[in-house]
Amino acid sequence: MQATAFRVILAVVFLVAARLAARQEEPTVRQADRLATAKRPMTKKEQLGKELFLDKGLSTPPGQACAHCHDAQTGFSEPDRDLPVSRGVYPDRFGNRNDLTAAYAAFSPRLHYDPEERHYVGGLFWDGRAATLEEQAKGPFLNPLEMANPNAVAVIAKVQHSPYADLFQEVFGPEAFADPNRAYDFVAEAIAAYERTYELNPFNSKYDFFLQGKTKLTDQEMRGLALFENDKKGRCAECHPDRSGSNGEPPLFTDFTYDNLGVPKNPENPYYYLSKSLNPDGTKFVDLGLGGVVKKPEENGKFRVPTLRNAAVTAPYMHNGIFKTLRQVVVFYNTRDVGPWPAPEVPQNVNREELGNLGLTEQEVDDIVAFLHTLTDGYDTKGDSR
Ligand code: HEC
Ligand code: HEC
Repeated sequence: MQATAFRVILAVVFLVAARLAARQEEPTVRQADRLATAKRPMTKKEQLGKELFLDKGLSTPPGQACAHCHDAQTGFSEPDRDLPVSRGVYPDRFGNRNDLTAAYAAFSPRLHYDPEERHYVGGLFWDGRAATLEEQAKGPFLNPLEMANPNAVAVIAKVQHSPYADLFQEVFGPEAFADPNRAYDFVAEAIAAYERTYELNPFNSKYDFFLQGKTKLTDQEMRGLALFENDKKGRCAECHPDRSGSNGEPPLFTDFTYDNLGVPKNPENPYYYLSKSLNPDGTKFVDLGLGGVVKKPEENGKFRVPTLRNAAVTAPYMHNGIFKTLRQVVVFYNTRDVGPWPAPEVPQNVNREELGNLGLTEQEVDDIVAFLHTLTDGYDTKGDSR
């Protein structure tokens, strides 16, 4: 009897300790993993995050929300397919990069150097410069090329006069607005909480249902999948892993590492033509990617491997939006070293081993593109004959 009681106490102590340890963990892969994949009603904080994410009033002048460039209808990316980079709230201002989807970003670990593999992993943005979703969310509000607020005080004044100001105080306390800098942290905390919900991480593409055995892929999609994985053909899975984890975690289609694929400059990038105060380098601007953040020449030209989830709806592609279709992307991988492609934007550190001359036939290129179309969320299995 006593021994049983002792065992129960031990188990409780163990559980509490495990809980505490989990709570202290950084919001990295494991924690996000747990939060994101569960379909459940949103908490008050997550609802608040969604209000903030959708609020067009939070730019100066008003008119641009986070959702403007991260629209749920287009996989939480910029809906304008013809713009290589995003337009700011001032219509004549443009960022220097194509947007990334905000979906599945919750899974990127903090930027770190892996000494065994000898490469960088993780971080947010194409160059890893933000460590967490919280840190990331504080950027766009104050970026003159995006939502263009002069400072955090201006953002908080807008939140304070919003229809959800009461919800803000309900979540963060009656004094939530007292200190604008703290309130700004709260804004980021709520947005990040929203970005970790099921809404941005639903894992409900056709491919997910296929992995669960709930649907079949067509013959062409199956051929595309095989080519995607084949290390003598597409080799895509080497950087965009497509298999479930050991505990059944669905694949993210990125290993969060960095590479210079030798993507050429995009002459259509409107950033080149901004005034000197916004882009001092003019048309000579070169995007160093990770190298610009970690200040190491051997990382110049490397960008974080993006997820391919929803790729069919997130055109254009690559850090500078140079490709308008998925087919162009695959043709580039296939023929970079044997076709008439312009020089890489950064000629150093180009990956010459895993791409450039894959020898894929036209049919095989189409097959890979067909497979990529199975990664769009919101697939309806009802029409399937099983
Ligand atoms: C004007 C368009 C625009 C607006 C407005 C905007 N973003 Fe972005 N977002 C981008 C671009 C462009 C990138 C990639 C920039 C880079 O890598 O340097 C990006 C990157 C991100 C990422 C990183 C994803 C990843 O995988 O690393 C997240 C998360 C994100 N934005 C969330 C937000 C939130 C939250 C807001 C509102 C506070 C917001 N964005 C407002 C254009 C925008
Ligand atoms: C060596 C690693 C590596 C391999 C192999 C690889 N990719 Fe990529 N992929 C990347 C990186 C890095 C980027 C971003 C590069 C940039 O913007 O400069 C990228 C970007 C993409 C994009 C653009 C996504 C977006 O949101 O802009 C697509 C689509 C894509 N890859 C598909 C594929 C396919 C299909 C294959 C196989 C034929 C493949 N990749 C093989 C690393 C890789």
